[in-house]
Amino acid sequence: MVDQTAAREAPAAGRNREPLLAILRQVLPVDGTVLEIGSGTGQHAAWFAPELSPRRWLPTDPAESALASIAAWSALGEEPRPLSPRALDASLDNWPVGKRDQITAVFSANVVHISPWAVTEGLVSGAGRVLQTGGKMIFYGPFKRNGKHTAEGNVRFDKWLQDQDSRWGVRSLERISELALEQGFLMPELHDMPANNFCVSFAKS
Ligand SMILES: C[S@@+](CC[C@H](N)C(=O)[O-])C[C@H]1O[C@@H](n2cnc3c(N)ncnc32)[C@H](O)[C@@H]1O
Repeated sequence: MVDQTAAREAPAAGRNREPLLAILRQVLPVDGTVLEIGSGTGQHAAWFAPELSPRRWLPTDPAESALASIAAWSALGEEPRPLSPRALDASLDNWPVGKRDQITAVFSANVVHISPWAVTEGLVSGAGRVLQTGGKMIFYGPFKRNGKHTAEGNVRFDKWLQDQDSRWGVRSLERISELALEQGFLMPELHDMPANNFCVSFAKS
């Protein structure tokens, strides 16, 4: 029985879903399962699963409250619904997915700057483990380019993040690309997004 009162709402997820969907349609492989890391409220999962069918959408998060919210949003959404959410901490190497899940893409929105750097490292190496040649690893959020913030608003946001937790912060796209190259990904495709964000898509070689 799904507890519908567990559904939490993040206003930004409502604002960025259309631009994100347009990019996902362009960059996702045509079939298989999209493994979402740090699904949070589950709004993206509930909206994207029917829009991107016949691909399957597998939401995950390490937080119990997030898993409940994801299940609630999934139940409220249209069919085909996301797969049942799984507990997954990206910094660990025991991701609860296997060959039978047919993961063709790993997608993560607004996670790498709101978590310690070890989560980014784990995310990139985990994506390297679960994806085959042609699989995609896609990040959405604010990023620094060539060591610099891309907008004044991101300077303030970065300071705010570090005031919350000194291990958090807007990440350098070049540092993430270095990690990705080590894991067998090619140089990324970069898409400008509204509100000083980017969508970054790496293909596995
Ligand atoms: C700002 S929310 C983003 C939620 C959603 N992706 C969105 O864009 O609305 C960050 C999410 O990252 C998750 N998170 C934090 N640490 C994580 C980790 N080690 N592995 C996976 N997800 C993590 C949090 O639980 C939270 O749900």
